Amino acid sequence: MAATMLNDITQTAQWTRKDLLGLRGLSAEEIRAMLHTAQSFREVSLRPIKKVPALRGKTVVNLFFEPSTRTRISFELAAKRLSADIVNIAASHSSLSKGETLLDTVRNLEALKVDILVIRHAAAGVPHLIASRVQASVINAGDGAHEHPTQALLDLFTIQEKKGRLEGLEISIIGDIAHSRVARSNLWGLTKLGARVTVCGPPTLIPPQMDQLGVRVTYRLEEAIRGADVLMLLRVQHERQEARLVPSLREYRLRYGITPERLAAAKPDLLIMHPGPVNRGVELDSSVADGPFSVILDQVTNGLAVRMAALYLVSGAPKVSEEEA
Ligand code: CP
Repeated sequence: MAATMLNDITQTAQWTRKDLLGLRGLSAEEIRAMLHTAQSFREVSLRPIKKVPALRGKTVVNLFFEPSTRTRISFELAAKRLSADIVNIAASHSSLSKGETLLDTVRNLEALKVDILVIRHAAAGVPHLIASRVQASVINAGDGAHEHPTQALLDLFTIQEKKGRLEGLEISIIGDIAHSRVARSNLWGLTKLGARVTVCGPPTLIPPQMDQLGVRVTYRLEEAIRGADVLMLLRVQHERQEARLVPSLREYRLRYGITPERLAAAKPDLLIMHPGPVNRGVELDSSVADGPFSVILDQVTNGLAVRMAALYLVSGAPKVSEEEA
């Protein structure tokens, strides 16, 4: 069964990149290859013995410089389910705290013959810099406000799973667009696969000239809800804002919080998504987060399959860097 599944993946997946750094640089075909591979791996987690030998003998390092629950744990579980060895490094407990540079740290990891580095960092571009300096594959687990490719892939996967397609769907992304790597990766992924995207939030949290990226912009929540197939909600990221760009979380909830009353005008088969962590009572009420439209925990489940696919495809690909692809 496992052998048949892996044969199927290797025959159909079109992937030649050493790294997974963002969705901006990927073609629609490459994104589809990732989703197709994730579909094949989803079944592994439903088995009594949740393991396949696909990455036996490979070593994965989780190198996280920012807090994470979902991404770090699902990469760890994904590596284990593929039979890889996995090591978790928290920056605060490494020699980085003694003054070692990041590049020296990753060169030392490479000297230990690791195969895949999964990196989260507060600065945009760090995974790209490291990918250009090491032979190991690099997966971006979130770089500043830039990209979070595996989050967007699991979002695309979940929408496709629930709706059967992405093309022609109306997706509204609501909240702190300016500081969101999730929004940025989703914009690239959704538009490449033919969805129509609206961004909505306070004017201070929407970058200028967003409309030039092929998305509709509205500051009115009712317009974002009306006709939408999916509402993708984002957290207000005070930690990335130099100045407070909304007066208060209470004010934000009054203007942009999703409540059952506001969903009265929504489509009956609406999907409510959120990458987490959720601020209950701010971007959405608890009754919405736990309500019938919500697929928030399905996103988490699908994140495991998507991260198995990402580890599998970068590890098996010929070593072609981002610049060469
Ligand atoms: N969505 C997401 O990246 O969650 P974590 O910060 O918990 O990894």
